[in-house]
Amino acid sequence: MLKGKNVLLGVTGSISAYKIANLASALVKLHAHVDVILTRNGAEFITPVTFETLTKNRCLTDTFDRSDVSEVKHIAVAERADVMLIAPASANCIAKLAHGIADDMLSTTFLAVKAPVLAAPAMNVNMFHNPAVQDNLKILESRGVTVIPPDSGMLACGAVGDGKLPSEQTLLDYILREIAKPKDMAGKKVLVTAGPTRESLDPVRFITNHSTGKMGYAVARQAMLRGADVTLVSGPVTIAPPPFVKVVNVQSAQEMFEAVAARFEGMDAVIMTAAVADYTPAETKTEKIKKSGDGADLALSLKRTTDILQWLGAHKKDGQRVCGFSMETENVLENSRAKLQKKNADMIAANSLKDTGSGFGTDTNHLTLITQSGVTDLPLLSKEQAADRLLDELNKL
Ligand code: CTP
Repeated sequence: MLKGKNVLLGVTGSISAYKIANLASALVKLHAHVDVILTRNGAEFITPVTFETLTKNRCLTDTFDRSDVSEVKHIAVAERADVMLIAPASANCIAKLAHGIADDMLSTTFLAVKAPVLAAPAMNVNMFHNPAVQDNLKILESRGVTVIPPDSGMLACGAVGDGKLPSEQTLLDYILREIAKPKDMAGKKVLVTAGPTRESLDPVRFITNHSTGKMGYAVARQAMLRGADVTLVSGPVTIAPPPFVKVVNVQSAQEMFEAVAARFEGMDAVIMTAAVADYTPAETKTEKIKKSGDGADLALSLKRTTDILQWLGAHKKDGQRVCGFSMETENVLENSRAKLQKKNADMIAANSLKDTGSGFGTDTNHLTLITQSGVTDLPLLSKEQAADRLLDELNKL
């Protein structure tokens, strides 16, 4: 995922420096080239050998390094960086960066970096909230540095509050958002629906389906990585939401409809991956008992849910794109083409429930993308890759 990308990590003196070893390792596994600059205080907590073993690159410290006279080291790493992350960033380091002080390898290199810079402060809660630190962070933000807010919790000093270095995964998410993909969807507003809906029969029971939300969550994540402003309207699922995406949790088809309709204006595209229940009880079991008395025939009558995709197709304005999914057991193309017309959609992504590796709960999908102008049959792909191809086609419309 990060082949050909250069990540520059700056590590300062904090007990949380150990987390950066895991982060460096994760980046290497994603095929990034990783350079690490360790300050003198950072080296009290973690050794250069740790980073050199993990990254296979020399870890830059504040000693004079005569191993390669062919390049000026701090300028070379600054120039090749696609992103720089300073984590943990100590109060002292933040102050130096905010005021242009260049008295060590990290602060000197920072001044030469043209790529986006991320800084993750980590320190004692009172230090973090000290106006000097807060003002310095504001200076950095005003110059385009992204400050990653610290987590709250039990700190190494025993105090409880803001100041914890976020998890390795969170730091990685910030890096991925910066460099994983070209930002060809920057400025686009995209709404994705995902998961099943849940139609209550009574306070205990409900009707639902097998959707896990994986496909929709992958679409939301890929669109976010491509720079889109993404809102995810999700039915009940057990997977973690993608980072940097606004999540609206709903239960029933009616709630999903209301959440989508309320946000439709201003969206450039809506992608309905949700397996919306077609039917919901016309009245709940409790209502039926109240009306008919206990012991009466409790067979519930059903009513159709609002067809959200059809509503979107009927209400879309010029420039808005609407994409639906269709899960078929047979006549995939024919049925999906009919849905494209009936629901006035711009694209239907069809998958056959008979295909192995496709459908609910799998990590792969075989999609056929149907538009007014043609059919694109994709191979069996991971749901992330399939989501990317779907977005490619939707962007072309
Ligand atoms: N859909 C919707 N609202 C509904 C039902 C479905 O928006 N009440 C959307 C789904 O999210 C999907 C598309 O319509 O994007 C097609 O869903 P599907 O269940 O395959 O089609 P239906 O129109 O429900 O027809 P059928 O169940 O008969 O195949």
